[in-house]
Amino acid sequence: MSQQTFLTGITTTGTPHLGNYVGAIKPAIVASRSEGVASYYFLADYHALIKCHDPEVVNRSTLEIAATWLALGLDTDHAVFYRQSDIPEISELTWLLTCQTAKGLMNRAHAYKAAVQENIDAGEDPDFSITMGLFSYPVLMAADILMFNASHVPVGRDQVQHLEMARDIAQRFNHHFGETFVIPAAVIDDDVAVLPGHDGRKMSKSYSNFIPLWLPEKRLRKSIMKIVTNSLEPGEPKEVEGSALFAIYSAFASPDQRSAMREAFAQGIAWGEAKQQTFELINGELAEARARYEELVAHPARIEEVLQEGAVRARAFATPFMARIRKAVGIRSLG
Ligand code: TRP
Repeated sequence: MSQQTFLTGITTTGTPHLGNYVGAIKPAIVASRSEGVASYYFLADYHALIKCHDPEVVNRSTLEIAATWLALGLDTDHAVFYRQSDIPEISELTWLLTCQTAKGLMNRAHAYKAAVQENIDAGEDPDFSITMGLFSYPVLMAADILMFNASHVPVGRDQVQHLEMARDIAQRFNHHFGETFVIPAAVIDDDVAVLPGHDGRKMSKSYSNFIPLWLPEKRLRKSIMKIVTNSLEPGEPKEVEGSALFAIYSAFASPDQRSAMREAFAQGIAWGEAKQQTFELINGELAEARARYEELVAHPARIEEVLQEGAVRARAFATPFMARIRKAVGIRSLG
């Protein structure tokens, strides 16, 4: 059990944007190719149900996100790539962990507390529209992680508290029923760029300032042209500091390209020209993958096949482990 196991989940809501690509997908795909570690990547469709109650959207997002990871080159021979809901052991484990989780621990979850606060601010009942799914979300996430004895969990900063909760739940279980789970650690990559959106704030679905990853070429260009700049004319020197356009360009550029663009800014490159170069750079990086993406989305059965293979591999671990866990809590044959 000394081998490192990396595991991370991707909630299947919405269409991926450039910020997700630069900040999460690209580094994870690079990591999926590293030797000497076991890695698990999964589509967290049960998590999607917490926020999204439209069956068509849930289904479509699962397809788009799976196609995205495959098109971008996730190595599914090495990494185990599966859909959470294909692993019944995860829901089974969720219940066993729920029975070891202090309600007070869940009361402290940021996402839940923020929802309560929003209700209070709006003069609503504190529990207004809060489901048990939202409330116990960290237990499901703990089950995702503990099911595969993950030692390393790459996540964004917003998920650190959930990792602490998973550790807490695992420790409590181990203490009560004997050593069962590996205690997982969050892995936060500080080098990863936080991409700004059109308006300079962090690129995010909630700010509507995002550039979708798989826009067709013309629309990608149009979207890049909408990045907010200032009124400096061609020939006037421009600051790279605080420029959303420069930051977006940089996230895709090699060090040489980045310094050339820095120099071009100082020399007063026209905004339209800088945007055109940004478009060309991003389009160049994505064009081949975009063709693969479109091909995959048009053939969902191929994606399904990959996911089913992943589920078989995931369950080869989860099924016997779950049998052990069940025994540990006293759910055993009477024979
Ligand atoms: N909750 C995570 C997010 O919104 C996604 C997720 C679900 C996850 N289960 C996980 C991440 C297990 C890491 C490990 O980003």
